[in-house]
Amino acid sequence: MIHFDLSGTKSFLENQSLESAYADVSQAFKEVQNKSGHGPEWLGWRDILTSPNDALLSELDTLGSEIREKADVFIICGIGGSYLGARAVIDALSGFFDRNKGPEIIYAGHQISGTYLHDLLNYLKTPKADGSQKSVYINVISKSGTTTETALAFRVLRKWMHNTFEDASRRIVCTTSASGGALNKSIDRNSYKKFVLPDDVGGRFSVLTPVGLLPIAVAGIDIRALFYGAVSACKEIESKPEDLLNYAATRLALYKSGKAMDMIASFEPELAGIGGWMQQLYGESEGKNGKGMFPVLLSFSTDLHSVGQMVQDGQRNMMETFLVLNNPAYGLNIDEEDDDSDGLNYLSGRSFHHVNQKAYEGTKEAHISGGVPCVTISMDKLDEEHLGRFIYICELAIAVYVYALDENPFDQPGVEDYKKAMFRLLGKPGN
Ligand code: PA5
Repeated sequence: MIHFDLSGTKSFLENQSLESAYADVSQAFKEVQNKSGHGPEWLGWRDILTSPNDALLSELDTLGSEIREKADVFIICGIGGSYLGARAVIDALSGFFDRNKGPEIIYAGHQISGTYLHDLLNYLKTPKADGSQKSVYINVISKSGTTTETALAFRVLRKWMHNTFEDASRRIVCTTSASGGALNKSIDRNSYKKFVLPDDVGGRFSVLTPVGLLPIAVAGIDIRALFYGAVSACKEIESKPEDLLNYAATRLALYKSGKAMDMIASFEPELAGIGGWMQQLYGESEGKNGKGMFPVLLSFSTDLHSVGQMVQDGQRNMMETFLVLNNPAYGLNIDEEDDDSDGLNYLSGRSFHHVNQKAYEGTKEAHISGGVPCVTISMDKLDEEHLGRFIYICELAIAVYVYALDENPFDQPGVEDYKKAMFRLLGKPGN
């Protein structure tokens, strides 16, 4: 299960402001349910859960397993909402050093570094220990089919794939809109396998569509359990939305009280990708018309030794959201040593998880007394079902919160501005 602990915000909020925020988010939730708020044509991320497409899940699962079996390297080529969700789930469930044996997963198209692509091509060309060519598969993901970062990387990788593999057309799988965009032209010309991202699902809300599910399946993760975790959360919250609404209301009341940043922090490094996905989901959804809190990603306890001072003692304009894992899948105990010169025998017999837990509890206590309101979202277990639930909860919470700000959570007009300036500087025709 997923739990919210809002007790670390209570001393910072008046009852009245919380009640008023609760009324606002309750109204916003109705607007999401009735499709009567901003951008109602973008609510497909809920519809896919209320009418699950099991045939599509099977197809993705089958292709994912086939690629998993045949590939040494699987490249996920996409940016923003087109790769962060897959990366979040894959990082959370794959372990740190290839626990889930399978193809090596490499990301591309998420920046414009020539050095990165140069090194990637060299790596792909380097033969395996037995002297043979690595078997490479690519999933290029772009809803618009025109995003420069992704399209440029794909142009380079596609050429290398066609020069290297006779069956390159079968090794390239594309995920994009039903029609339009340059990627669809390339699909038609080369007969690449194509999955469709429905028009009514935006990039950052798309992890439970083929955008996220195919790469996640290639990583050997049970996409049905992930998807149906979200389905269960969706059903449960429809009839019992109070916990989620309390969370959204608390965040809204904190924002209205002047908080300008939400620091998303976890003591579990395998949750860093989840934090990164949340950062984009929240940031791109709420940063509109001078409104919203800047989502900052923190990895503790590492970052307590870099920006911890700022959190404890800097400007009091921040709230903090801890992502907590109650029961990690694996762990280690601390042994008693004859040589206690490091002074750590007082911890012997305890687990690393216990120490990490106390580090979290101590940090939260210190930050609250330093003037930072703290929310905790905890997961009992890190598995597909819990992650599916977590994904839906975050999607719904941010949609409701942004509706309560009277903004559209589903567009990102501001992202166009850097593109326009870049295209002008590059001399793109028509700019
Ligand atoms: O959430 C979003 O919509 C964006 O982050 C997009 O996913 C991102 O800009 C990539 O766009 P596209 O999938 O069209 O290449």
